[in-house]
Amino acid sequence: MNKQEVILCEGLADSLSQAVSRCPHDKLFVLTDEHTHRLCLPLLKGVEALKDAEEIVIGSEDVHKNLETLASVWLELSNKGATRHSLMINLGGGMVTDLGGFAASTFKRGIPYINIPTTLLAMVDAAVGGKTGINFNGLKNEVGVFSPAASVLIETEFLRTLDERNFFSGYAEMLKHGLISTPGHWAELLAFDRDAIDYARLKTMVGRSVQVKENIVREDPLERGIRKALNLGHTVGHAFESLALAENRPVLHGYAVAWGLVCELYLSCLLSGFPKDKMRQTIAFIKENYGAFSYDCKAYEHLYALMQHDKKNTEGIINFTLLEDVGQIAINQTADKKTIFEAFDFYRETMGA
Ligand code: GLY
Repeated sequence: MNKQEVILCEGLADSLSQAVSRCPHDKLFVLTDEHTHRLCLPLLKGVEALKDAEEIVIGSEDVHKNLETLASVWLELSNKGATRHSLMINLGGGMVTDLGGFAASTFKRGIPYINIPTTLLAMVDAAVGGKTGINFNGLKNEVGVFSPAASVLIETEFLRTLDERNFFSGYAEMLKHGLISTPGHWAELLAFDRDAIDYARLKTMVGRSVQVKENIVREDPLERGIRKALNLGHTVGHAFESLALAENRPVLHGYAVAWGLVCELYLSCLLSGFPKDKMRQTIAFIKENYGAFSYDCKAYEHLYALMQHDKKNTEGIINFTLLEDVGQIAINQTADKKTIFEAFDFYRETMGA
């Protein structure tokens, strides 16, 4: 996989001009969803390099992350004269960067693209690391390719206007990066005060968080080994997310990951010797900032089945990434059904759910 350049912007317009000039092209396309078209694209109007850019606008939210939207982007690229020397800019959250990255990577066998993530989740996770794709046949991210952006431009000024729920959804991935990196980064993340956000400090933390992901992706771009560290919290988290959807009470991805972390830190204590005090501190932060997803013991079998069918697992064996300590990662761990049910019990007792 090619190397991807990730830039923590001091000024988005300048960084974008430079990134565009590093990608020689005949035509430039800017993909937005209906919200980022209205709210974010106007901030780039003065950028000379975008003067003649063609705009492509798609519907927002995960419900539009499908084949139909993808085909509409291919169609617009084709009708508006894109060639294999064209360049695409994806301006939006993870849905836009995932789908736009996939559209660019497949159009005429692949044109380069630049990601400008506008949500925290996209900044620290979705837009970085080269995973692109769409949902298909009722399954999330079922079809896609590994194909890194030429550049990812991170402008944390967008976070000032991000709603609180989407902010915390992204923050869960930062918390995960803290847990898999260093005690210092983990501790600074737990010290975050939602009532007095220091945006300069947040920018530094976002930079550090992205660095954690970049380092891992550089080592294992295709998720054969250590990239699985990024799945911490996601084995149970995805099951919570799917259960919530099936019960018509959808939750944001990062919230499901935060709740998944509660169960997976418990498993880490039990099976890998993760220190109990660090588990308690992390769970206290999650409880305070994410509340709890409630379910009763009748849901355990359903949750377990969802975990068995997750595409990251084979032959029904549930694969976990666990921790021996903050920054000490144990990939390819498994737990039996009884232990997993014990983790569900622990979650309900601890979170009061
Ligand atoms: N979101 C996890 C990864 O990019 O591998």
